[in-house]
Amino acid sequence: MNSKLPPVEVATLEKGIDLQRLPAHVAIIMDGNGRWAKQRLLNRVHGHERGAETVRTIVTVSREIGIPTLTLYAFSTENWQRSAIEVSALMSLLKKFLESEKPIMMSNGIRLNAIGQIERLPQDVQDVLFQTIEATRHNPGMVLNLALSYGARAEIVRMTRILAEKARDGSLDPQSITEETVSSHLYTHNLPDPDLLIRTSGEMRISNFLLWQIAYSELHITRTLWPDFSRNEYLDILKDYQQRDRRFGNV
Ligand code: IPE
Ligand code: IPE
Ligand code: MG
Repeated sequence: MNSKLPPVEVATLEKGIDLQRLPAHVAIIMDGNGRWAKQRLLNRVHGHERGAETVRTIVTVSREIGIPTLTLYAFSTENWQRSAIEVSALMSLLKKFLESEKPIMMSNGIRLNAIGQIERLPQDVQDVLFQTIEATRHNPGMVLNLALSYGARAEIVRMTRILAEKARDGSLDPQSITEETVSSHLYTHNLPDPDLLIRTSGEMRISNFLLWQIAYSELHITRTLWPDFSRNEYLDILKDYQQRDRRFGNV
């Protein structure tokens, strides 16, 4: 990180962020890498490379201020439809990111988790991913949850199949199914629902992300493209979140 920036405690103090009332789970749709590159007449892959630097910044700030869980939407089930060149560039960037960040996750106590159809990722990416998850599994600091080859509808279909199989073999009574049963059979079974969902680059849509889990998340959409998204804007969004009145249907 840029050494000229003030320490994060100073920045959060300046902005009046209450570190005791941070969201327990922040989820981010990291969008706009392609447009960032296009504006500069660069290949989309350059946008993804710059986007990976923003990932590093936002993971670092989140860890420093004490966000317990950070979920990043890195690749959707629909993203498999992109050109083979772009998909393979994204996969090698992901592998490079995991390799370079592993020591940083270890020294900062970050635990890696992944959600999505991981079995569809190239074998070498799966290998590094599982090695990193394993190496970081006892880290107590923050859960970094990567949504990779993730689609919320696919997740719900998978959950439905698991429950139907259990009902068929007699280990689950359909009448006993509750919201808790559903939550505990999703990829996110070990994580709280997001309190705050951020989307960069201005699109007013969810793009098949965490449909069940965001039922009561606070939404924040910024027009900033992901490679331009900064620590400063992130802190402003956290401050804005703390000013929201979360009523959950109550008065
Ligand atoms: C987000 O940026 C990264 C992924 C979806 C993998 P995009 O690649 O979607 O960038 P835009 O939306 O085309 O600008
Ligand atoms: C959502 O962005 C997926 C990720 C950020 C990984 P997309 O660019 O794929 O979504 P759409 O096409 O704008 O809906
Ligand atoms: Mg996009």
